[in-house]
Amino acid sequence: MPPDAKVTTAALRARKGTADRIAVLTAYDVVFARLADEAGIDVVLVGDSLGMVVQGERSTLAVTMDEMVYHSRIVSRGVRRAHLVADLPFMSYQASVEDGMHAAGRLLKEGRAEAVKLEGGVEVAELVHRLVRAGIPVMGHIGMTPQSVHQLGGFKVQGRTDAQRAQILDGARAVTDAGAYAIVIEAVPHVLAAEITRAVSVPTIGIGAGVHCDGQVMVMHDLLGLEPAWKPRFVRRYAEMGKAVGEAFAAYAADVRAGRFPAPEETYD
Ligand code: KIV
Repeated sequence: MPPDAKVTTAALRARKGTADRIAVLTAYDVVFARLADEAGIDVVLVGDSLGMVVQGERSTLAVTMDEMVYHSRIVSRGVRRAHLVADLPFMSYQASVEDGMHAAGRLLKEGRAEAVKLEGGVEVAELVHRLVRAGIPVMGHIGMTPQSVHQLGGFKVQGRTDAQRAQILDGARAVTDAGAYAIVIEAVPHVLAAEITRAVSVPTIGIGAGVHCDGQVMVMHDLLGLEPAWKPRFVRRYAEMGKAVGEAFAAYAADVRAGRFPAPEETYD
């Protein structure tokens, strides 16, 4: 694939099982979407993690459809080459297939997303099937599913017991059979993620799921070190931007207070 070719669901599927792993990153606004796109990120995900990293909530549950549509639309203005996926937020699809169809339609029509992501296994298979039949590509999300945080008893690694392993594997198969073109696997032991990756015919995208997935996803704020106090095991920081931004803000405040800003060359004659 030429390096500047538009990333499509077909192009992503073609990378299943190859050494060409898929790089997925979240974004919530146009500036970071453009930076991610220009850096060669394959998939930009407008995650409902925005509830936590942008809005300061303790979970993703409070995020609304209108907020997802808004962030997806502003992110879409920065994305050219990458594939753009937006999350269906909590309770936009759990109550009925019809709810899910309408919500997904809004993310494509108003949010300019190219695909939707939703959480769950066997229980969402019918919705996945209906969405795909309606022409809406679906990315699944299994393992630790943050929208079920209260059911799971916290943001905990899943798939450590035989029953959980079987349930997650069944879910991966069901979502794949229903037509999903990729599946996020979150916070499961790497051996289980490897087993799922072998078991399904579509790319798996891991987060806290080890290196054997077909790709990886990270939350932008984690990768950039924007929250210095937050460093779970699965996060690798590629920058310390929280520190750098804090230092820049403090330097600006000091310059203003001391009358060093603006200088003559920063002033109109
Ligand atoms: O909301 C999100 O950012 C996500 C990723 C962590 C996969 O779902």
